[in-house]
Amino acid sequence: MEIINRRQRMTSVARKVRREQDKTIGLVPTMGALHEGHLSLVREARRMCDVVVVSIFVNPTQFAPGEDFERYPRDLTKDTTILADYNVDYIFAPTPEEIYPKGFATYVNVEGLADQLEGAARPGHFRGVATVLTVLFHIIRPDFAYFGQKDAQQTLIVKRLVRDLAFDTEIVVLPTVREDSGLALSSRNAYLNGEDRRAATILYRALARAEAAYLSGERSARKLAEGVRAEIEREPRARLEYVSVTDADTLERLDKLDDRAVLIAVAARIGQTRLIDNIVLNKQKGTGALKMP
Ligand code: PAJ
Repeated sequence: MEIINRRQRMTSVARKVRREQDKTIGLVPTMGALHEGHLSLVREARRMCDVVVVSIFVNPTQFAPGEDFERYPRDLTKDTTILADYNVDYIFAPTPEEIYPKGFATYVNVEGLADQLEGAARPGHFRGVATVLTVLFHIIRPDFAYFGQKDAQQTLIVKRLVRDLAFDTEIVVLPTVREDSGLALSSRNAYLNGEDRRAATILYRALARAEAAYLSGERSARKLAEGVRAEIEREPRARLEYVSVTDADTLERLDKLDDRAVLIAVAARIGQTRLIDNIVLNKQKGTGALKMP
């Protein structure tokens, strides 16, 4: 396993792998502080691809002013030790200057999709995500890139980005990995103290209740959303930011649920920590393929 810090070295290594060795490359983009959610992506990349690259880069442009960029957990030594066990070929861990050289002025906006939910709550967030992924995809030119359903809106945006700008990369989306309590794994869970960690399980419990209501025949989006809201409001440490019930492929708001796949997404603060989670109902109907609104 080689750790690469320089953009130029990463470009030339990836080019060599592709051209001279004719091997497939799988990229797992991360911001580090690795957990089982990230590792499920690494495992699948390892299974599918000849060469696996994991990028570790806490991307400054996707944090809005006042967010947790400075205190976001960073431990490259620990991450490296973990990835060595997963038979990863390259870790790409650039400095901000390698990704954003002096005078950097070109940003990528995925319009529409990026303005809702997380995009509305975190202005500029998805511009930062789409921009850094564009740079990473150009440096590495992966055949496959791996993303978690945990960040549902991010998966839709990256699929749209890849299609609209004709990247030769296939996006693979894998299920959310959870603790036994139902809490979705997240690097930000490190911010939760004992009581908050218990309180944070309310997100999944509320989503699971919505799923149960759906399975017993509830088809009103408003009623499902209200149920989630009521459940989260029962937890005094939680402050709900939004709950949304949308088409899982387009993020179009729904009134009545029909046979389309439906995304129920929530964002809430537990104490000071902002967490997101989601479930997809009627998943077999959603192909995960990109359907235009
Ligand atoms: P990060 O939050 O580090 O997540 C990296 C990848 O791991 C994302 O695709 C995310 O959806 C996935 N992931 C996180 N928690 C997961 C869980 N519990 N189960 C399954 N997958 C999970 O997302 C980012 O970084 C950044 O926005 C990035 C794409 C790297 C661009 O900077």
